[in-house]
Amino acid sequence: MNLYKHVSNAINEKLGFNANLEIPRNREFGDFSTNAAMVGAKLAHKNPRELANEILPKIQELDFVESASIAGPGFINIKIRDDFILNNASVPQPQKAEQPLVIDMDYGAYNVAKSLHIGHLRTTIVGDTLNRIFRFMGHKTISYNHMGDWGRSMGFVIAWIKKIHPDWPFFQDDFDPSMDTSAYTFDIKELNTFYPQAAALAKQDSVFMEEAQNITADLQHGHAGYNALYNIFMPISLKCMHDTIAKLNILPFDRDLGEKNAALYTKPVEELLCKKNLLQESDGAEIIVVKKDTDTAPMPPMMFYNSRGATTYDATDIAAVYYRKLTDNPNKIIYLTDSRQSLHFEQLFRVAELAGLFDIKNIEHIGYGTINGADGKPFKTRSGNAAELDDIIQIAIDAVRARAADRNLDNETIEQIAIAALKFNDLMHDLRSDYIFDPESVTSFEGRTGPYVLYTAVRLNSVLKRTNIEAQINNTNICADERNLLIAIMDFDRTVQAAYENRATDMIANYVYNLCQSINAFYHTCPILHNDIDIATQQTRLYITKLARDTLITATNLMGLSIPDKM
Ligand code: ARG
Repeated sequence: MNLYKHVSNAINEKLGFNANLEIPRNREFGDFSTNAAMVGAKLAHKNPRELANEILPKIQELDFVESASIAGPGFINIKIRDDFILNNASVPQPQKAEQPLVIDMDYGAYNVAKSLHIGHLRTTIVGDTLNRIFRFMGHKTISYNHMGDWGRSMGFVIAWIKKIHPDWPFFQDDFDPSMDTSAYTFDIKELNTFYPQAAALAKQDSVFMEEAQNITADLQHGHAGYNALYNIFMPISLKCMHDTIAKLNILPFDRDLGEKNAALYTKPVEELLCKKNLLQESDGAEIIVVKKDTDTAPMPPMMFYNSRGATTYDATDIAAVYYRKLTDNPNKIIYLTDSRQSLHFEQLFRVAELAGLFDIKNIEHIGYGTINGADGKPFKTRSGNAAELDDIIQIAIDAVRARAADRNLDNETIEQIAIAALKFNDLMHDLRSDYIFDPESVTSFEGRTGPYVLYTAVRLNSVLKRTNIEAQINNTNICADERNLLIAIMDFDRTVQAAYENRATDMIANYVYNLCQSINAFYHTCPILHNDIDIATQQTRLYITKLARDTLITATNLMGLSIPDKM
């Protein structure tokens, strides 16, 4: 049961108007507090304190109310009956949305032939959790790994391969597309070095730059050799993406479809834009002006084709809106990227609306903040390089291993803990703000951390595994810590609802942390399997333990955490 909703609805129904229900910080005087007397006083032109006196008996009549009292200018504090809480707390179930939506989610969005780096951590972790939340709320999501697989970096990579293997058949005029290319392959580590090397060279060597840019355009226009080569390194890169996200326990993407796939739709999109008079020529490029008279901030045009005729990042994003509408026909499209891309999405959404492709209120960009090091600058590894995602994972694994040296944990468990540490830490921060990544504190087994959460779940599992005593309600005489825990369990649905509405993954993480705090308080004050405890109480406590465990698991599933057998 969603206790908050139940209490709120019952009060509104009883009084015949809608009041606000709050959960007070200090719960000494009640589990909830309502401003019903203030609202009612305004409606009836009465004094709130007087009206509170009239309302109080009505609230006391509600079957779940243990006691109610008036505080301050007319707030009414309500305490809920123990047996009501105990009998109605239940394991949260996936919900049925009143209006189930189809939501296209664009996150991850890794780049071919570039390693996943720290900038991809949040889009991956937060995107996956939002996806799980949306599904839990009863919506249908389609997750897209909208890869950077067709832009200028592809030209750089191919130009570099050409430089180191000029004799390879892909670069010869008589290249035969039906040839067996199995002898040509790449080690992923090596492949990921090509782009940075090529980009560095292109900075100093304008001839090389020119060549790389021409290769991009030729690749897009169907050059057989370049496309054959592309078809060799692209799957190697895709596999690397999949391996890394599998380590992070991320749901597989529904579609690994990126810029290349979108580019297939540039022709019909171009026609649409022409029909709407939106395309303009500018210095040999084709642009779309999106500035409005009311804009105060700079709002540059989008570029559809550059002056070489190559398809741009902008064009592939416009085309992606087009084909998603054509194929999924979603109610919403949601993008999750670094907030530094906010302008790009503002431009994109304007184009989508101008072209009549998508209603601007149903297309949404969530921009997340940067992960910094202790110096407040983007996190770097000890060698001073921008950290790769695999490095970050390894740093967390090493930190957990050092910390748990005396615990005799196997590698799989250490990895599970490290991943939970990374993910929980990422999710607990307001996703729109920057945060400082400190491997030491995020892997601590105490405090607001992933390992603490796992440890709490392991502890409950081990109690439940240790006994054959049936978990059932046999004693409604519960103590304060049991009450608090049950109320926390009954607050799950409200939390997920709020996390969904606010696109706020930190609400789930903070909920989980508070739930764990309540669980551990219960664990300490309420002995469960103890000879001194009568069997009815043991059964009831086991019942609460099981409920808490299942609720915690449901919540940690939303974060994609996996619980080890022991810690
Ligand atoms: N590949 C881009 C990057 O790594 C992000 C793409 C985001 N999605 C999109 N539809 N533009 O920065």
